[in-house]
Amino acid sequence: MTTTRTVPARRRRPLTRALAALPLLLAAVTAATPAVAASPPATAAAVPVTPVLTPPMGWNSWNKFGCNINEALIRETADALVANGLDRAGYQYVNLDDCWLATTRDTNGDLQGDPVRFPSGIKALADYVHAKGLKIGIYESAGTATCMGAYPGSLDHEAADARQFAGWGIDLLKYDNCNSGNRPYLDRFKAMGDALKATGRPIVYMLCSWGKDAPWSTYGPASGGTSWRTTEDIGNFWSNGSQSTPMGVVDILDAQAGLEPYSGPNAWNDMDMLEVGNGGLTDTESRAHFSLWSLLNSPLVLGNDLRTLDPATKAILTNPEVLAVDQDWGGSQGRRIRDLGGGLQVWAKPMSDGSVTAVLFNRSAATATITTSAAELGLGGSDTYTLRDLWAGTDSTSTGAVSASVPSHGVVMYRIHRAGTTAAARPAGTYQVSDLTWLASGNGWGPVERDRSNGEQAAGDGRTLKIGSTTYAKGLGTHADSAVHLWLGGTCSQFSADVGIDSEVHANHGSVRFAVYGDGRLLGYSALKTYGPATRLTVATGGALTLELRVTDDRDGNAYDHADWANAQLTC
Ligand code: GLA
Repeated sequence: MTTTRTVPARRRRPLTRALAALPLLLAAVTAATPAVAASPPATAAAVPVTPVLTPPMGWNSWNKFGCNINEALIRETADALVANGLDRAGYQYVNLDDCWLATTRDTNGDLQGDPVRFPSGIKALADYVHAKGLKIGIYESAGTATCMGAYPGSLDHEAADARQFAGWGIDLLKYDNCNSGNRPYLDRFKAMGDALKATGRPIVYMLCSWGKDAPWSTYGPASGGTSWRTTEDIGNFWSNGSQSTPMGVVDILDAQAGLEPYSGPNAWNDMDMLEVGNGGLTDTESRAHFSLWSLLNSPLVLGNDLRTLDPATKAILTNPEVLAVDQDWGGSQGRRIRDLGGGLQVWAKPMSDGSVTAVLFNRSAATATITTSAAELGLGGSDTYTLRDLWAGTDSTSTGAVSASVPSHGVVMYRIHRAGTTAAARPAGTYQVSDLTWLASGNGWGPVERDRSNGEQAAGDGRTLKIGSTTYAKGLGTHADSAVHLWLGGTCSQFSADVGIDSEVHANHGSVRFAVYGDGRLLGYSALKTYGPATRLTVATGGALTLELRVTDDRDGNAYDHADWANAQLTC
């Protein structure tokens, strides 16, 4: 049997953008993931400055107003937020962004508000916001100056500035990354985290270091932060295909792949403030933006002018069933379940009540039908399902198909519950996954193969499974991105497999991550796997009704990603 071959030239996804970001991202993921993780790393060992159990919701001045802010605007915004019932929908924080500061510190070396824009002072503004039943957030930078350059930063003034914030009654700090003097991230961000803790005031600590140096797995939690921006700044547009400031909504979404293990209570991946209502997106695009930010548990920080809120925008921002998705921690951030090609995608997130929320997302230029299944969404094993359309407010039932006509740049968002008779639990025994009937499967090229590697085309076209120099009689041959969905019924205790890139691809090709989900929640995952020996992955599956064996391409495109689950066994 030939053990090395060139994978035939074929259609590939555009890689330029992903590759540009690759060295940083791969380094981050490699360093962050142990060989085998029994459980996701979302629960940070470090103590948060202030516990934040659901993604923060509020408003921030930057997207709409930039530097053009003053105390009247902030007061009027607080008024409008309450008058429109946005506070009752969950939006709590009114946040000043850059340009609130005077250009110099006072004679004591303390920060002071701009005397022209904020003549009554920041304390008075905080009192006003608090009197409305709201909370107030402020902005600073972990550097010598803020991003606008003219205003003093907090670097080396952390203790005094944190005391100043606490004294004014500040409830949240967005801490930016400009003018850092190239000093280490952890030093700068932890200094402020420690200073905030020392004040004793519960100030929510949001890091804004644009995803640099993987804050999610390193200095974010270690600094006491409870959220971290994952990308450069959002812009008021759909997409320009770039990963530099400003980024379109879709471009930010594409940068979230692989970050889901780091999300959870006290650890939110911040996709940046919303552009809904700022005129650069259609209402259809705005619903997509809002749906996906919610599905990925991003902080929801409004970025529009609340004083002129139109009914359509208000309806989007206050949809209670969509907000409930953002605010629910079901054990995993949402993630892309399937890329059907042609800009059609399926995203899903498990909900804490056992349901699943699905977003059918049409990035293409024309209306299209997007079809998935309850099984693919991690919800198989029932003979009937109820589907709640969260934007239309309508209900329907299905025996398993989940399908909708979706407008260009739009979404259909369903919350799906099992509603029928559930399949029998799997009897006790040890099973080879390649011998079982699967609920569903999906694969990057051709079908997932049983006891063969992935030949990329027709079923059965692969070779003997081989990882490193070991061959295997049993197992699954897949090609990223891939998924195999199994019914357990709650009676299986363990899944194990030798995972790795099949030796049929060239050395130095292929880079994937293997992940095992139970009822949509991440149970365990491998380190980044490249060409070479297998890693034994053993995962406790106790209580799960369904299991998903997933291979993702590790953020560099899926060329050569022939990925094997060798000797994949289930113990029930
Ligand atoms: C950076 C941040 C933005 C905003 C500006 C203000 O670019 O990422 O969100 O705060 O600074 O200057």
